[in-house]
Amino acid sequence: MKRINKFWVLTVLAAFVFVGIAAVKQPVNDKFKNLQVLPKNITEDSLDKVMDGFTVMLGVDCKYCHYRDKKADTLIFDKDDKAEKEIARNMMRMTMDINKNYFQFNETVTAAQVQAVTCYTCHREEPMPHKEKGTKK
Ligand code: HEC
Ligand code: HEC
Repeated sequence: MKRINKFWVLTVLAAFVFVGIAAVKQPVNDKFKNLQVLPKNITEDSLDKVMDGFTVMLGVDCKYCHYRDKKADTLIFDKDDKAEKEIARNMMRMTMDINKNYFQFNETVTAAQVQAVTCYTCHREEPMPHKEKGTKK
């Protein structure tokens, strides 16, 4: 993904940060089995936006973080068999902490203020931000 629509990315990011707030009031959703950072009752639509955002911001595809069952040729999204998925969880926690502790992020902050720091701030479409471009994909 060479060219990036910045506005679209930011929209996705806003959705990412807001799910933590918005989802609280929604009815329980048992569709997702293994959410440890995102709200368990997140809507399918919001989860899709978060995941699409990850792929754009890191320049990867779904299988970069999600386990692929080779026999069935399908991704098992709730399985925790890839280190990248667990790292991503910690990255989500870290990113939320940065916004909360250093940018006065709280539940009443406006959309323009929310995405002070996002995955894209560091990653810039690279899974390993400190490496030379293209050394690890
Ligand atoms: C950068 C890593 C990363 C990428 C890329 C990624 N995901 Fe995820 N995904 C995660 C993490 C981490 C979780 C668990 C979040 C949590 O614990 O709250 C997750 C959870 C999910 C879940 C919920 C599974 C369940 O039942 O618990 C689905 C569905 C999902 N991802 C789909 C996708 C799709 C589709 C794509 C590609 C468009 C994708 N993901 C790309 C990291 C990633
Ligand atoms: C403050 C900067 C920063 C932010 C914000 C950040 N990351 Fe990272 N991330 C890094 C650095 C640096 C590394 C490389 C760490 C290493 O050397 O092992 C990394 C590594 C990763 C890796 C492992 C890559 C690999 O191949 O081992 C994943 C997955 C990841 N980040 C996902 C995310 C996601 C998802 C977000 C947003 C929720 C995010 N990161 C936000 C700095 C950041």
